[in-house]
Amino acid sequence: MKVAIIGSTGQLGSDILDVFGEKALPLSHDEIEVKDIASCRRVLKNVDAVINCAAYVKVDDSEGHPEEAFMVNAVGARNVALVCNENQMKNVYISTDFVFDGNKKTPYQEDDPPNPINIYGLSKYAGEILTRNYCRSFYIIRSASLFGRKGARGKGGNFVEWMIKKASNNEIIKVVDDIVMSPTYTRDAAKMIQNIMERKLPYGIYHVTNQGCCSWLEFAKEIFEFLDIDAKLFPIKSDALNRKAKRPKFSALESTKLTSFGLRMRNWEDALEDYLIEKGYYIKTCHAEGGLDLCCLE
Ligand SMILES: NC(=O)c1ccc[n+]([C@@H]2O[C@H](COP(=O)([O-])OP(=O)(O)OC[C@H]3O[C@@H](n4cnc5c(N)ncnc54)[C@H](OP(=O)(O)O)[C@@H]3O)[C@@H](O)[C@H]2O)c1
Repeated sequence: MKVAIIGSTGQLGSDILDVFGEKALPLSHDEIEVKDIASCRRVLKNVDAVINCAAYVKVDDSEGHPEEAFMVNAVGARNVALVCNENQMKNVYISTDFVFDGNKKTPYQEDDPPNPINIYGLSKYAGEILTRNYCRSFYIIRSASLFGRKGARGKGGNFVEWMIKKASNNEIIKVVDDIVMSPTYTRDAAKMIQNIMERKLPYGIYHVTNQGCCSWLEFAKEIFEFLDIDAKLFPIKSDALNRKAKRPKFSALESTKLTSFGLRMRNWEDALEDYLIEKGYYIKTCHAEGGLDLCCLE
């Protein structure tokens, strides 16, 4: 199966590229413009499937630039879906937990009704609808709170790196304790996406996140605990940040659907540990006595 990866230079796209290896056709923004149907028609051919990781990911900026958010996340999704359908190619659209309003008290399942509360979430939900309406063979993959080795290009990094940088600058760090989500390692998400495609799971929506959930504050605490950093970390309420876009207060995702096919992601703490190792921040060392110790490298 030959797979084109749109947004292959991005945080998730680069790990999907690694996971598919020789089967992958990487497509950077220089090579394809999803807003332009002619570009999509010119580039998307001679592959069996297209994974669309292209997105306008700036959540706050989307409020002031709804046209751009909708052009990339919705019209772009429509263009890719249309061309996939014309050429009998499978279409994988990457979506987000931000399609939900956050009013639920238990993790969202694939069949929970979306109700986005900001422009970014609305544009991604529009992308979902257009993907399923314009392409017969589609997967919509909802992921969340990504951390990956490259960091999000559109956001200029990821939460883990921002925390480590602030701590190494000895800054006072204020992190919200009233927003709960499912932190997800892009490498794990990439492998699950490959699994879904290669096992030919039924078309439709899948939630692909690491297991479990936590507040952003708890996430930050876990990062510093792994690295044995005594950070100046304080809780703050999300309203105090006065951000342009509202965020869902609770957007943990779960997938009993994947479980029913015998697939399961590991928990976010184990994924975070592997991420920190991959980035060279710390290693696990086995001592002669057979004990397991955690050593801080930086
Ligand atoms: N980051 C998160 O926490 C998060 C959470 C949930 C869901 N998601 C979803 O996951 C996907 C990947 O996110 P990410 O974190 O990997 O973001 P990213 O690092 O910013 O990657 C986005 C990629 O898309 C490319 N791109 C942007 N606009 C494009 C366009 N108009 N045409 C073609 N390519 C374009 C970018 O290239 P340039 O940078 O060169 O423009 C980049 O390679 C997105 O669909 C996002 O909505 C992300």
